[in-house]
Amino acid sequence: MVFPEYRPRRLRKNESLRALIRETRLSPDQFVYPLFIMPGKNKREEISSMPGVFRISVDQLGNEAKECMKLGVNSVILFGLPEKKDAMGTGAHAKDGIIQRGIKELKNKAPELTVITDVCLCEYTDHGHCGCLIGDTVDNDATLEILAKTALSHAKAGADMVAPSDMMDGRVAEIRAALDENNFDMIPIMSYAVKYASAFYGPFREAADCAPQFGDRRSYQMDPANSREAMREATLDVDEGADILMVKPAVAYLDIISRLKDEFDLPIAAYHVSGEYAMIKAAAEKGWIDGDRVMAETLLSIKRAGADIIITYFAKDMARLLQK
Ligand code: PBG
Repeated sequence: MVFPEYRPRRLRKNESLRALIRETRLSPDQFVYPLFIMPGKNKREEISSMPGVFRISVDQLGNEAKECMKLGVNSVILFGLPEKKDAMGTGAHAKDGIIQRGIKELKNKAPELTVITDVCLCEYTDHGHCGCLIGDTVDNDATLEILAKTALSHAKAGADMVAPSDMMDGRVAEIRAALDENNFDMIPIMSYAVKYASAFYGPFREAADCAPQFGDRRSYQMDPANSREAMREATLDVDEGADILMVKPAVAYLDIISRLKDEFDLPIAAYHVSGEYAMIKAAAEKGWIDGDRVMAETLLSIKRAGADIIITYFAKDMARLLQK
């Protein structure tokens, strides 16, 4: 078909026609909203580099959950700011830790909400790395046991899904085994399978107080230059028992999302991270872009690239926009 017989503009004439042939749609029930849980009571602190996103105390979680569900956002992922940090990140698996209390509160106040937990040590270690150290090196195999303990403690507290984000080798298998041995064989693992060492995490590290105190995360997170390595990482996690594969960040890695979608048949998640959110918010505040339209277009691009699930700080804003 060539012009003038074929005219693509015929089907762009009005919104009804455009909607009829629309290939990609956003739906709030495929969003996951990140929650930052902080100590104390009646606390709600806005994160300065992430306007509209708050650290909240455990007692506020019920209201937050209800607000999400009213908007059709039925899943959250939890990050914790513990009272104390130590070298081994023991707060991550404490029975009465901040996340464990948060899970119980959410399950109590909003039983239908899907509660996913981020499994990592960086918020709980005093050095800010995602595992325990031997000298200045993050020790892979010693970290695995702590991660498995952490995932198990989340499951015991009532979490619906665990999401390891540490990037240690072998952690999916270790977590799967720990869950299965303790009768949590029905708890899925959403693996941060392809997580890059990215500057886009900047605002999150302020939000969750988890910046490394020395060095960086490049000895465990992936090199942004690599895409074939992403396939190897994802293959390992599939073989170790992952139920969902995640790519993180999202927009600078749409090619990776697309490749994973083509090559694997597991559901694909994408994490639209803090820096990606902050940039849109900042430009919109300056009046340089239309924030709502850029938000919608960005999330759509992630979905179009192949993500089934989008983890995003825009979850509630986008859900509101979709209701209009
Ligand atoms: C924990 C973790 C990080 C993010 C999610 N889980 C920070 C990091 O790896 O440094 C980043 C999320 C975001 O930027 O929104 N390891």
